[in-house]
Amino acid sequence: MTQTSTKSELIEVSSNPLTFHLHNSQVSYVFGVEDENVLAHHYYGKSVDHYSNLRRYPRLMRHFAPSPEEIETRDFSLSTLPQEFPGAGGADYREPGIVVEFPNGSRTVNFTYDSYTITDGKPQLAGLPATFAQKDEAKTLTVKLVENDAHLELYLSYTIFRDLPVITRSARVKNLGQQPVQVQRLASFSLDSPDNELNLLQLNGRYAQERNVTVEPLNTGIKILDSKRGASGHTQNPFCALIDRHATEFSGEAFGFCLIYSGSHKSIIQMDGYNQVRIQMGINDQNFEWWLEPQKSFQSPEAVLVHSDQGLNSMSQSFHDLFLNHLMKSKYSHQTRPILLNNWEATYFNFDEKQLQDIISSSHDLGIEMFVLDDGWFGERDAPDSSLGDWVVDRKKLPNGLKPLSDYCHSLGMKFGLWFEPEMISVKSKLYEDHPDWVLEIPGQRRSIDRSQFVLNLGRAEVRDYLLERMSYIIDHADLDYIKWDMNRNMTEVYDAKLSASEQGEVSHRYILGLYDLLEHLTDKYPDILFESCSGGGGRYDAGMLYYMPQTWTSDNTDAIARLKIQYGTSLLYPVVSMGAHVSAVPNEQTGRMTPLRTRGLVASSGNLGYELNPLNLLENERQEVKLQIKWYKAHRHLIQFGKFYRLQDPFETMRTAWMFVSDDKKAAVAMYFNIFSEASSPLHMLNFAGLDPSQKYSVNGEYTAYGSELMQIGIYPLTQNDGDFDSAVFELKAVE
Ligand code: GLA
Repeated sequence: MTQTSTKSELIEVSSNPLTFHLHNSQVSYVFGVEDENVLAHHYYGKSVDHYSNLRRYPRLMRHFAPSPEEIETRDFSLSTLPQEFPGAGGADYREPGIVVEFPNGSRTVNFTYDSYTITDGKPQLAGLPATFAQKDEAKTLTVKLVENDAHLELYLSYTIFRDLPVITRSARVKNLGQQPVQVQRLASFSLDSPDNELNLLQLNGRYAQERNVTVEPLNTGIKILDSKRGASGHTQNPFCALIDRHATEFSGEAFGFCLIYSGSHKSIIQMDGYNQVRIQMGINDQNFEWWLEPQKSFQSPEAVLVHSDQGLNSMSQSFHDLFLNHLMKSKYSHQTRPILLNNWEATYFNFDEKQLQDIISSSHDLGIEMFVLDDGWFGERDAPDSSLGDWVVDRKKLPNGLKPLSDYCHSLGMKFGLWFEPEMISVKSKLYEDHPDWVLEIPGQRRSIDRSQFVLNLGRAEVRDYLLERMSYIIDHADLDYIKWDMNRNMTEVYDAKLSASEQGEVSHRYILGLYDLLEHLTDKYPDILFESCSGGGGRYDAGMLYYMPQTWTSDNTDAIARLKIQYGTSLLYPVVSMGAHVSAVPNEQTGRMTPLRTRGLVASSGNLGYELNPLNLLENERQEVKLQIKWYKAHRHLIQFGKFYRLQDPFETMRTAWMFVSDDKKAAVAMYFNIFSEASSPLHMLNFAGLDPSQKYSVNGEYTAYGSELMQIGIYPLTQNDGDFDSAVFELKAVE
């Protein structure tokens, strides 16, 4: 007998065989219990109203495909069955979702279905950032699997959001045995699919050139995208997508995957000999082992699965929507953000109170709303080789402390923000004299240094207590409105002398749990502070940090032309409002390039706008131009920061970039167009808008009117004369009668 629950419930459960169908109007995700109680994957993609078990895996005779001894058969084997969470050491020779070492030395583990529960909304994950939902916004299915020989339970959680094509997944393993076991891998999810005509899209890069979009066809073998840095890292964002071979920004299927985790991560994309695809994401299992005492559990971070059947823009918009409404917990997540001036590229370490006051006053005059004092205000920090950890104001530079600067900002109606790099320590510091053992290192052995600094072991409570106390003191005494939380090197020699030899595989993850614990305390204690995360620019731009800090310094590369690619790649999943984007001086610090102020302004105005230059050095005509930029941004800020974002032209494929922002009611839009190199006898290039109401008439820059359908389908010529390299244009669209 088949029992089916109502559609509105989001999760339909049918019996005989037991099948789970998670679906809303946009997406369906189906799996069920197969022979031998194995949990098998059926379908993930565009929503279907009904599922009649069409994807039950066919019984096919396979060679070299072991089956359970009790049912000896050659047509049922884990080696080819699409599974929900593959074990290790048994008949499935593909990548395992979980590896556990038992006291007898075995590493074989295979789970079978036991039971399930469904809850309204979404339970939080203990100690980890994760998406959240009200009771009526989502439903969560938790499936309990058991491994009776090994005395383990595995809980797979699936949340489906009511109004988004999003499923989130995580896994928790529990030890029911009498002895501790060691978890050596636990993927956050594993997904098998027979669909293989797909491209893999990923975001890789390096310092100052983060999140390059790279697309390649899936092929047989294993592809690993990972970070072993103890941070999500500049080089590989914890995100990838499987997309149709012919997917574009506006058409084709795209499956986006992202891990809500800020430490070492690993994505495995495998295509086996039968061309079946398996994708997994989770904590990197290199140097990872977690002891599980009897009755204890280990919880994986959460992964987000987004589906789109209308290309990449739609996938990105779903990520943006999810992150804004169900991930960023800050009270500022939905508030427009202040335009800031950061003094880093203006002064570096050399400043005094008077100079900063002049910068503040000049910024105020330009219309800037917040001053951020970057590195160099503490200890004896005149260069990057000292004082990290000594979070005490440098009285040589600022004899009266920070308060007068903060008061001055407040007296002008501006906000005051401050840079910290809490997770680090300089050897030249009082903190190092007092607590050399707080460093992440192997005592007595050679260690690696980077930017003259070492990493503090945030896995230890006393380190976190110290940082919480120091930061609270400064926040209270300097009356801060904003904190830039930086992290300027990655982990090496990951070791904690206070832990036993067999616990060393836990250090990296304990660090991340410690970091989250500290952030939880600090953000709870200071809900009014706007936090921005940073790691040498965008070296830790991930969903885990966004949970605590609703904006990120996108890249140390402030070159507007380089930023086109960086911001384009970043927008694949991170919302525009989260992207710190600053106008800096020319020639650019990182590239030496001279880009017109107009284009620098427009690129930075495509994100969360700020300035990173000395306003006192601006020429009078530049001051006037900056004033206008700021005025313009303020007028369009809400639309840019919270409108629907569309990528229109791809800087990775052409010498042009275009994107646009459309208000929810489609009555207003702004589009920006960038032409990287000027050409003689240039061919004509078009710009087609997107996201408009086809039957609505719009005025374009107040110069002419056209219907949405014309602007989208026919398009315009955005630049009709050669104004040199790095030229740009902006189009303001307003609905008219
Ligand atoms: C990192 C950040 C910069 C700046 C410097 C200060 O590189 O990304 O924005 O804060 O540190 O040392």
